[in-house]
Amino acid sequence: MSKKIGLMCGSLRKNSYNRIIANTIADLNVPAAFHLIEIGDLPLYNEDLEAGELPASVVAFNQGIRDADGIVIVTPEYNSGIPGVLKNALDWASRPPRSGALQGKPVGIVGATPGGLGTALAQVQLRHTLEAMQVPCLPFQKVRISQVHEKVNAELKVVSDERTKQNIQSYIEHFVTWIEHRSN
Ligand SMILES: Cc1cc2nc3c(=O)[nH]c(=O)nc-3n(C[C@H](O)[C@H](O)[C@H](O)COP(=O)(O)O)c2cc1C
Repeated sequence: MSKKIGLMCGSLRKNSYNRIIANTIADLNVPAAFHLIEIGDLPLYNEDLEAGELPASVVAFNQGIRDADGIVIVTPEYNSGIPGVLKNALDWASRPPRSGALQGKPVGIVGATPGGLGTALAQVQLRHTLEAMQVPCLPFQKVRISQVHEKVNAELKVVSDERTKQNIQSYIEHFVTWIEHRSN
């Protein structure tokens, strides 16, 4: 059966390059079914909110993760790290301890920036956070898209650069194969 992959975007911006890339991944011709997991409606994490019924946005977010065999996080870099909205989402996904929605769920990382380092620093920080959450992350392979404004057609909302498209395709194929082998 084809794998279900959840896509989480670290940017809330309407014309986000990373969102365009997440949508590109959703349309790839790979043996997997993709769904987007939204993080923009999540409240700021506060342990008090766990005392009663969880907010509906948190329940939907956790369900989106639990429904997936693996998650691909597509994120920009803010101030040499991951955006606060993404860290907030990961903190929610880490709760309750040892049985949070993301616990043990395989994750892949893709990042894009108009800058020159392709979100390298954000990706290091993200791996560090995922490790603390006991979340396995696809080793070795990386997709770090620099100068993204030259590789995406922002009006048509598509990746226009062939090589970038191929890199994304090959990363996602590899990710799907990885989670297939993990679940055997
Ligand atoms: C608060 C803030 C901090 C940023 N810091 C970085 C950074 O450290 N490294 C980087 O490559 N780009 C940085 N940028 C530029 C973002 O990469 C750029 O705004 C990008 O388009 C955001 O991704 P998006 O298009 O998916 O929203 C920063 C942007 C903002 C708003």
